Amino acid sequence: METGHLKIVRTVSQLREQIAEYRAAQETLALVPTMGFLHEGHLSLMRQGRANHDRVCATLFVNPRQFSPSEDLETYPRDEAADIAKLQVEGVDLLFAPNVTEMYPAGAATTVSVAGLTDCLCGVTRPGFFDGVATVVTKLLLQALPNTAIFGEKDYQQLLVIKRFAKDLDIPVEILGGPTVREADGVALSSRNAYLDAGDRTRAPELFAALKTAAASISARAQSPDAAIEAARQRIEIAGFGPIDYLDHRDAETLAPAGAADRPSRLLVAAWLGKTRLIDNVPVGDDGGR
Ligand code: PAF
Repeated sequence: METGHLKIVRTVSQLREQIAEYRAAQETLALVPTMGFLHEGHLSLMRQGRANHDRVCATLFVNPRQFSPSEDLETYPRDEAADIAKLQVEGVDLLFAPNVTEMYPAGAATTVSVAGLTDCLCGVTRPGFFDGVATVVTKLLLQALPNTAIFGEKDYQQLLVIKRFAKDLDIPVEILGGPTVREADGVALSSRNAYLDAGDRTRAPELFAALKTAAASISARAQSPDAAIEAARQRIEIAGFGPIDYLDHRDAETLAPAGAADRPSRLLVAAWLGKTRLIDNVPVGDDGGR
């Protein structure tokens, strides 16, 4: 199906046929996997792809394998028509929007699982999540074989997991992160922000504000990391967040507890605000404010 410049395909064979045409014309390709309900964060990744490649392909697939039975698969926000309109405005070339049977035909029995990096943070509080992400992203990378695939840094642990398995499995695709896009008040853009009611939305900026303050305080050695994290924890609890799944200072490459001060590190948080689980992260020792 053609909608303006954007071509929409729903099967792996149509996807491969279109990409073969790009390759025959010596064109390079950036892939931007998404679960739809697109916001500026996703669109900034499309622009990053567009700036460096001849063609940009977005994918839209709400991947059931990365939701546990108690999570929000059924209610996850979806609006394909609005997503298509946004992709057209961005000049995206190709949208791959398969259904569940196309991605997981009957008999599909393979899971991609990454050890180590997934033993902490979201890997603890969302068991099975990273296996679901690693499996679907492996499939998307192999289906499209782009030059580059781009993922948001807001999902920082996910980005490291994807880099890990792409390297381990010799998938010949460059994996890049794109900076977190924020509202003017600091709230990181996320499709799940749609769940926040008006009251929660007014409280939400405290999450990033607390992280930023803690990162600045650790960088300036004004407080020990433990004291800075405790202050951030108290601040977000007072703002109405809870439970806090984690609020940790971790090595930026291995996600082990942060050690030597000369290693890049990050503060990462996942916390509930009403019925919404928000995640965010900031670098420590950099500008502390991305
Ligand atoms: O970050 C997301 O939107 C998803 O986890 C991804 C990478 C598209 C895989 O389903």
